[in-house]
Amino acid sequence: MSCALPSTALCAEPLKPNVFIAATGGTIAGTQANVEQHGYTAGQLGVQSLIAAVPQLNDIATVTGEQIMNIPSQDMNDAAWLKLARRLEELERLPGMDGIVVTHGTDTMEETSFFVALTVDTPKPIVFTGAMRPATAISADGPMNLYNAVAVAGSVAARSCGVIVAFNDQIHSARYVYKTNTTRSDAFQSVDRGPIGTVDTGHVDIFNACAGSALLKPKVSIDNIHELPKVEIIYAYAGMGRDLIDAVAQSGAKGLVVAGVGDGNITSEALAGLRDARARGMVVVRSTRVASGFTIRNAEVNDDAEGFVASLEFKPSKARILLQVALLKTSSPSEIQQYFNSW
Ligand code: SIN
Repeated sequence: MSCALPSTALCAEPLKPNVFIAATGGTIAGTQANVEQHGYTAGQLGVQSLIAAVPQLNDIATVTGEQIMNIPSQDMNDAAWLKLARRLEELERLPGMDGIVVTHGTDTMEETSFFVALTVDTPKPIVFTGAMRPATAISADGPMNLYNAVAVAGSVAARSCGVIVAFNDQIHSARYVYKTNTTRSDAFQSVDRGPIGTVDTGHVDIFNACAGSALLKPKVSIDNIHELPKVEIIYAYAGMGRDLIDAVAQSGAKGLVVAGVGDGNITSEALAGLRDARARGMVVVRSTRVASGFTIRNAEVNDDAEGFVASLEFKPSKARILLQVALLKTSSPSEIQQYFNSW
C-alpha cells in the first residue's frame, strides 16, 4: 500500500487499512456539565478527542483525522454540504486512502449523507456515524459507533456500497436511511428496504449486495457550484389551505416538496395552489408525511397532467436534496422525474 497521506504515521503498519475521520460535530462530540444532566451541548470535542477515546481503533486501522467543522447538525446547510463534499472528494483521491468516516450529528445525517452520495464520485466507502448520547454520558454510544464505522470504512466488503451510515451495529445505505427515533440509540432505519448489513464489534457483514445497484449511480458534479437552488418543504394536513404554498411560490424558490397525506395527497384548495406554483415555473415534488411506503406516480394524482414529480421512495428530507441536485442540471419535471426513478 503506497502512502501519500497527510500524516506519516498512516504508513507505519501497511497491512492495516488507512481510514480518515472527517469530523463535523454533533452529539458524538457533545458534552454535558454532569452525567445526570439530560441536556447537553453538541459539537464540543475535537476529532483528536474522539480518536483518543477509542484506542482500539489502532488495532483495526491506521487512523488520522481532521476537523471539517464542529456544529450541531441542525445547523447544516448548503454551504456546509458543499464544503464537506469538496473535502471528501480530495480525501478519497489520496493514494493509499481506503475509506473515510464522517462523524456527524444525527438530526440531519440522512440529508448530508444523501447529498454526499449524490455528488461525491468514489467507489471507496464513505461512512457516516454519530451518537445519540453525548460523549460524557453513562454508556455513551459514540465510541462503539466510531469503532464500527472505522471497521466498515476499512473493509473490502463495503467497497461498491457507496455512501453508508453505520449506526447502532447496523449498516445502511445513505439512499435508504432515515432517523426514526428522537432519542433512543437505535435511531436509524432504512424503512422501506432494511439495512444492507451489520457490524458487530468491528465484524462487518454486508448481506444486501451493493455492486451494480443504484448505490453507485453516476454523480452530479459540484465543480463550480457555490450555492444550491432554493427548495422548500411543506407539510400537509386535513383542512390545509394554500397560503403557505403561495408564500413559497412568491419567495423565489425553484422547487417545493409537499409532504402530502397518504400517497402524496393534498386538499383541493392546496392543490389549486400547487397548480399555480407550477404555472409560475416552480418544480413541485409530491412526497408523503407517512413514515414508510412509496409515493406512486399517476396513482391518486395525475402527475402527467399536472406536471408534478412523484418522489417514489424518497421521503421529504431526501426528496428535497435530490430536487436541489437535479435542479443543477434541469428544471424539466419529466427529466427530474428520471432522477427520482433512477436514484
Ligand atoms: C445533532 O444532530 O447535531 C444533534 C443531535 C445528535 O447528534 O444526535
